Parts: sequence; structure tokens; C-alpha cells
Amino acid sequence: MAKILSAVAWPYANGPRHIGHVAGFGVPSDVFSRYMRMAGHEVLMVSGTDEHGTPILVAAEKEGLDPQELADINNRIIVEDLVKLGLSYDLFTRTTTKNHEHVVQELFVACRDNGYMIVQETAVAIDPKTGNTLPDRYIEGTCPLCHCAGARGDQCDTCGNQLDPQDLIEPISKVSGLPPQFTSTEHYFLDLPALAQALGQWLDGVEESGSWRPNVIAFSQHLLKDIRPRAMSRDISWGIPIPGWEDKPNKRLYVWFDAVIGYLSAAIEWARRREAAGEGSAEDWKLWWTNPQAQSYYFMGKDNIVFHSQIWPAELLAYNGAGARGGQAGALGQLNLPTEVVASEFLTMEGRKLSTSKNVVIYVRDVLERYQPDALRYFISIAGPENQDADFTWSEFVRRNNSELVAGWGNLVNRTAAMIAKNFGEIPTPGVREDIDDALLSAIEAGFATVGSLIEAHQQRAALAEIMRLVSEANTYVARTEPFKLKEPHQRERLATVLHTLIQAVADLNTMMCVFLPHSSNTIDAVLGGTGDIAPMPQLVEVEDLDNGHPYPIITGDYRQVRPWGRQWVVPGAPIAKPKPAFVKLDESVVAEELARLGLSDDTSAPKA
Ligand code: MF3
Ligand code: ZN
Repeated sequence: MAKILSAVAWPYANGPRHIGHVAGFGVPSDVFSRYMRMAGHEVLMVSGTDEHGTPILVAAEKEGLDPQELADINNRIIVEDLVKLGLSYDLFTRTTTKNHEHVVQELFVACRDNGYMIVQETAVAIDPKTGNTLPDRYIEGTCPLCHCAGARGDQCDTCGNQLDPQDLIEPISKVSGLPPQFTSTEHYFLDLPALAQALGQWLDGVEESGSWRPNVIAFSQHLLKDIRPRAMSRDISWGIPIPGWEDKPNKRLYVWFDAVIGYLSAAIEWARRREAAGEGSAEDWKLWWTNPQAQSYYFMGKDNIVFHSQIWPAELLAYNGAGARGGQAGALGQLNLPTEVVASEFLTMEGRKLSTSKNVVIYVRDVLERYQPDALRYFISIAGPENQDADFTWSEFVRRNNSELVAGWGNLVNRTAAMIAKNFGEIPTPGVREDIDDALLSAIEAGFATVGSLIEAHQQRAALAEIMRLVSEANTYVARTEPFKLKEPHQRERLATVLHTLIQAVADLNTMMCVFLPHSSNTIDAVLGGTGDIAPMPQLVEVEDLDNGHPYPIITGDYRQVRPWGRQWVVPGAPIAKPKPAFVKLDESVVAEELARLGLSDDTSAPKA
């Protein structure tokens, strides 16, 4: 029994989220957290919307809104989508709370006091119209090397060279279309070289544990080879104010400096809210953060690795006073470094890179409006970008839904419940089991260990595939025992034994399915005569900012009443009614309809990778 922090990447609130986001970290972190709770651990699962930085500001300007107004709108959309998908956050909050601001400033000041935040001069490009700094990728011009047009300030896509924006020929701001002004300014830098040795030691320990994905650890080790101070402030008016620079309102903390601190501030907000509700102490967050026995798992897409395996641990080491400049831990105490950074690869769609700007996108909201949440969860879990890039296609979505969920798992549940309803009306008392019955029951019981350890190793595709293999075994058992032919009075005891074995198998498989398919597991539990609430569900709750009263929706829930991971015997005598199917079969026409929505047709979609 351990304390497990499930730290899930914070989606930007610059627009609604697409299926790539929930495939990369949303669903996988939920599967992991649900499993860990069932395995008896105390999980704290936190996240929220990431609301600072240029992406929000640019989107707000485009819509003619304040950044806070834009963030309010998208925060709500994202919260609604994630609730519908059944993601079981203990707290899903946002980075524009006062609580977050306080915690971020506390970390900043302690890192500075310990000597790891240093002021340096640096070159910047300013958009002459907005007065804001332009990130390198928002500047375009002619490449100084290959002389092609359309090179970005960070890179030329034509010749592939890394560039500095000052070197572009005729640079133009993508925000205003005007030439940027280059100037020099002061910023706070995180002194990564002074933290490099401590970071290296931490990564060596991690490597020895052997639990990280090899590509993530290799990438993180590689980053240490070229380590430089990194700017942690920006010339921007939207973001968290910098303590000591209150007279410079156009300088704010860098969005990534603040966003990663969200994992900590959300745990603190969770504890504060619990104390306010009379359910615990405002200090309870420490059980996950300053307790050396606690473990923390960070879920994200691969483009976020550097921030979680370098910047965030460096901030923590600086706060703890554990780098080459020494220092002492801040008022919050010695904070734990990540146990594991779990990064996924990318999801493409119909062979194309998902891109909101190019409208190559499927929004979570649209999928949930038209299909069952578990149909999407199933696709993501069985075919998502876990260890390599994966492609979402509507034809695969429909095929997997129909042939695996409906015809495989759903059919097993339905025929089992229907035969019991028809012949007994309740779970029958078994007679003496034969070898074939024992073989099925022990294969399925062994599944708990196999599936559990695959989930612990973040191999969720293999874990779900193993459950589906057991579903096939159970379907084979039906074909071999032929309970539908056991119609004579002298066969009634055998019929009872077979159907009891079968419903036990289905109940076990449904327990395992809880983590992947919580909605339908509840439906199926009710079909099996249970209470229909074996997978606890998150809720959207309207709250006010604890410090300034600004209203916003959070995701939270009470997930303590989970079914333990393992066999629970079904109870003979429990009434079983004629089942209604848990999964909806999709018509083949869905594929053409959805491709048309995307402006694609069957023959124009790119070939599969
Ligand atoms: N908003 C970032 C993204 O979408 C992720 C932030 S994760 C956090 O890529 F930890 F920094 F919050
Ligand atoms: Zn070039």
C-alpha cells in the first residue's frame, strides 16, 4: 500500500482538446490511477488547464477576448469533456487560481534565495503592434542559409537548419505581419549548470531502477550533455507576476516554469478544499510530496519530456537546496522528485498529423456527442500511441467497436445473462465443476496478476489485449460446453454449473475492464445483478477560488469505494434479468460520414504508415 501521485499533463486552454490529447495522457493516466486504487494504493490524481503563455494570449487576441475570458470558456469545455470521458481526477483545476500563483511565487523566491535564479541579459524580438515578445516560431522570413522563403525563427523546414530569428532575411511577425524589433532585455534564468550534477545523479538512480521507458531515459540523459541556463521569465503581460519585479508588469514568469508547479499546487488546493469540507487537513498534500516513500508518475506526450525530466526536477532540486550552490529547502519542505516520467508517442489521424490550424482534427467533444465514451477509451487503450506513433482511422474505430467490443466482449456478457435469465432468473447454484470449468476459472483468475503487472509497467495495450484474449477463451468455453443444448431435466445441474462458471468469468473480466471501460463496467455490473457502481465516476463541481472568489468548475470525485483487484465470487440467488446491451453497434456508414466531415473521402485518405 503506497501513496501514488498521478500527475497528468495540463492541457492548454487555448481551445477545445482533440483526441490526440486524451490518447497521449488522459486515458492512460486514468487507467493507471483506477488500477492503482483497485490494487489498494492511495492515489492522488491531479491536473488542470494550462492557461498562461503565448498560446492563450494569441488565441484571445484572435477572438477579441481577455485572456482570462478565453481561458474561462475553454477551461469549462475541457472540464466537461474530461468528465464525460470518465477521467477520475481527484482534482482537475487550473493555473489561474490564486493558490497556484502563491505556490509558484513561493517556489520562485526559494529557488532565487538558494542562488539558482540568476538575472542575465538576452536578445528578444518584440512585435511592434502588441509590444509583446515574439517566440522564435512566431517570426518568419527568408532562410539565411538556403534563401528559401517561409523559414521560422527557430528552424528552416526547407533545409532543416536551426536558426536564430535575428539572422532571418526580412523577418516578419506572424502575429501582426510587421517586422519585429530586436532589443536586449533582462530575464531570470534557472541555473541549470549548477543543478546538472544533481540531475545526473537522480537520472542515474532512475536508470538503475530500470522502470522508465528506455527512449525516455536515453533522451533525458542526452539533454544533460548540452546544459545551459534557461530563461524562466518572458516579456509578456499575461502570466504570474515575478516577485521583486512588480514594477515591470510586462515581464511575467515563463508559462512552463509555472505549469509544472501545478502538480504541487493542485495537491495543495485539493488538501485545502478537503479541509474546508471537513474531511481532512490542509497539510495532507504532504503525504504525496514530502514523504520519501510516496511515488509519483507523470503522464504526457513526448514533446513534454524535457519539461518533466529536466526543468521540473531542476526546479525541485533548486527549491530543496540540493544543487552545487547548496541552500536549504523552502517552507513547504523537501519535495519529491518524479519517480517515473511516462511519455507517449503521437497520434495521427487518417495518416495525417493532427493540426488544429489546418483543421485536421477530431475534437473530443464531437466524438462524445456521437459515440459511447467507452468506444473511444477502448480504441485508445488497445491501439493508442503508447510506445510508437499510432494512427486513428474511422474504419478501424468502427471495426474494433463492432468486432471486438460488441461481438466479443458485449456478446459474451449478453449471452451469459440471457441464458441465466431464461433458465433460472437468478445466478444458479453450481454442481460439481468439471476440468473444463476449472480450466476457464483458473485462466481468468491468473489474468488479474498478468494484467495488473502489465499496467504497472505502463503496457496498457498488452494489458487490454490480454483481457480480450480471456474474453475469447470464455467465448470458446461457451462453444465447447454448449449450454444452450442442455435442455433435459437431468442436464439441469450441469447447466447450472456451466452458467455459474460463465457468469463468474464474466464478473472477473468486468472487474478487470473497470479500469479501461468504467462506464460499461457499471452497466454490466447491473446486468450481473450488482449495484452498477463498481467504477467510481468523476464529477464536475462548481466552486469558487479559495482566495479571490472567482467561480470555476473543477473535476473531483470520491474514489475510495473501489472493487478490489481480484476475484470476488458471484452470489447464487442474485436475480438476473434479460440484459440490455452495453455497447452500441455502429453502422458502416459512419466511416463515410465522418470522413466527409473531415473533408476526406475513402480514396483520398493517406495510406497507412
Ligand atoms: N500545456 C502543455 C501542453 O499541452 C502541457 C503542460 S504540462 C505541465 O503541451 F505540467 F506543465 F503542466
Ligand atoms: Zn533554409
